[in-house]
Amino acid sequence: MTTAIPTTGLEVQLVARPKGWPSKDDFALVQAEVPRPGDGQILVRNLMMSVDPAMRGRMSEGKSYVPPFELNRAMEGGAVGEVIESNAEHLKPGDTVLHGLGWREYAVLEGKGAAKVDPSVAPVGAYLGVLGMPGLTAYAGLLEVANLTAGDTVFVSGAAGAVGSVVGQIAKLKGAARVIGSAGSAEKVRHLVEDLGFDAAFNYKDGPVTEQLEKAAPDGIDVYFDNVGGDHLEAALAALKVHGRVAVCGMISLYNATEPPAAPRNMTEIVKKRLSIRGLLVLDHANLREEFQREVGGWIREGKLRYRETVVEGLRNAPDAMLGLLRGENTGKMLVKIA
Ligand SMILES: NC(=O)c1ccc[n+]([C@@H]2O[C@H](COP(=O)([O-])OP(=O)(O)OC[C@H]3O[C@@H](n4cnc5c(N)ncnc54)[C@H](OP(=O)(O)O)[C@@H]3O)[C@@H](O)[C@H]2O)c1
Repeated sequence: MTTAIPTTGLEVQLVARPKGWPSKDDFALVQAEVPRPGDGQILVRNLMMSVDPAMRGRMSEGKSYVPPFELNRAMEGGAVGEVIESNAEHLKPGDTVLHGLGWREYAVLEGKGAAKVDPSVAPVGAYLGVLGMPGLTAYAGLLEVANLTAGDTVFVSGAAGAVGSVVGQIAKLKGAARVIGSAGSAEKVRHLVEDLGFDAAFNYKDGPVTEQLEKAAPDGIDVYFDNVGGDHLEAALAALKVHGRVAVCGMISLYNATEPPAAPRNMTEIVKKRLSIRGLLVLDHANLREEFQREVGGWIREGKLRYRETVVEGLRNAPDAMLGLLRGENTGKMLVKIA
């Protein structure tokens, strides 16, 4: 079956830079022209796109490891789609590819910027989540940045999300003695313990994180995988043992903040306990991709590692998906089904 070549397609543009919490008015749905692919380029019909916390950073101005989104242009991000026209040697119509031009129905891009994936091996969403960027972030962060060792007690925040849910399970599979997660609802706490095998979990909205962590890890923690920052980092610094390690993956509690954070207030713990605190950027760990896909893919096939997806239907609802992610409406990977 051949797919008709489109001349226009829907895209989501950023039209205003939010101060604090973004709103739907910061986005616009625009019917845009779809150009013909040039030499070496492909035209892709997007099927599924990723919504990531880092996109909130790119909505603001300022220097970072990726440039901000341009105003009045389609936003960008991970997507999986079907090639419908190809001028690239290694790709043909019908191929399924992973690429970086989400937030639009149709994408025209260099063939070398797209990686072929096999939808018969894993559902397309998995290439954006557990077997994709968030999964690699969890794998590299835990094993290479935090240097997980069998017998460690591990605490991960944002534990019911795309990265955190994989961190906790890999820690268990690699021999951690105890894994503790924090998340923002009673249902997520239940999911962590009953479905994903965490040893303990708590709802950070139920009371001070320091007190709840102390209760869940009375003997302290060896590793903290930080997705949240602020009060969670303060609690972890208090709970870490001498020579404890922290992989700082993200600080989502600060992404919509307009004031500097109130915590952590206990940075002297770093000296007292000779802690190692390292920032983590998944882009630095591409060398681990094959090993990660083999090992994590194997665990999924054997039923040892589980994953959830929260799928929002329709590109029109992608701004809601982005706002929902920041409010914690997702369990596991937040995705938007485009077609
Ligand atoms: N360094 C890297 O290379 C890299 C790569 C990927 C992701 N990251 C970072 O990893 C973290 C997780 O990303 P993800 O893609 O897996 O997202 P995610 O955890 O699937 O989704 C974000 C979650 O953050 C939680 N959250 C929102 N506001 C919060 C707050 N004030 N305090 C505590 N939790 C809050 C929400 O869950 P609750 O219901 O639990 O609040 C929400 O579901 C983010 O910080 C992200 O920036 C970093």
